[in-house]
Amino acid sequence: MPAPLPAPAHLRTDRLLLRRWDPADPDDVDFLFDTYSRWDVQRFIGRVPRVMERRDEALARAEAWAAPPDGAPYGVWAATLASDGARLGSVLLKSIPASGPTEPLEPSGDVEVGWHLHPDAWGHGYATEGARAVLAAGFDACLDRVVAVTHPENLASQAVCRRLGMTALGLSDAYYNATCALFEIVRMSE
Ligand SMILES: CC(C)(COP(=O)(O)OP(=O)(O)OC[C@H]1O[C@@H](n2cnc3c(N)ncnc32)[C@H](O)[C@@H]1OP(=O)(O)O)[C@@H](O)C(=O)NCCC(=O)NCCS
Repeated sequence: MPAPLPAPAHLRTDRLLLRRWDPADPDDVDFLFDTYSRWDVQRFIGRVPRVMERRDEALARAEAWAAPPDGAPYGVWAATLASDGARLGSVLLKSIPASGPTEPLEPSGDVEVGWHLHPDAWGHGYATEGARAVLAAGFDACLDRVVAVTHPENLASQAVCRRLGMTALGLSDAYYNATCALFEIVRMSE
């Protein structure tokens, strides 16, 4: 298999511009803090969900997300409206850790797609539109299969998976030492 290509820094869809988060932009950091300090956003994220409590956590996240790993088609993009640049949330394509006995967890070798929108941006199809673009970029960059893990009660996220054409594989303990409703999508052969 050819080596994967790095992910593009910018992706354009009908309504969205996906771009890198910028830790030097205070509005990016404020937006991340506003988003991840909300229980509505965090309640289904992580094995032990917790809201962000300090702005410097948002800054650290922007710094980490501004620089994706070299040579991998991964990224955490800021989803923005192409028309006016309004920030909507994050769309992710990343290596997913396997369940295991030691922290930090080891990579599973699989890749996950994810979405975290500010509540003001829910209900417009933006998560699905952004995720479709990062999946296409991942498949263009030679990925064969991408998974999504959702909290079993996160019906909104599972609906995104279905809109994307992902296949429901049922409950799984394979990742994050958590029981998740697992979805997958495979690259269509040409
Ligand atoms: C999960 C999450 C991204 C889903 O957001 P969402 O806005 O419901 O998902 P989409 O972007 O696919 O939008 C679909 C909704 O927009 C509506 N919509 C409106 N205009 C639309 C358009 N032009 N195109 C498509 N859908 C449109 C759809 O009808 C649907 O609404 P419905 O669920 O009431 O029927 C959001 O709830 C979220 O960020 N939650 C917090 C973080 C989280 O849990 N992330 C997942 C972790 S696994």
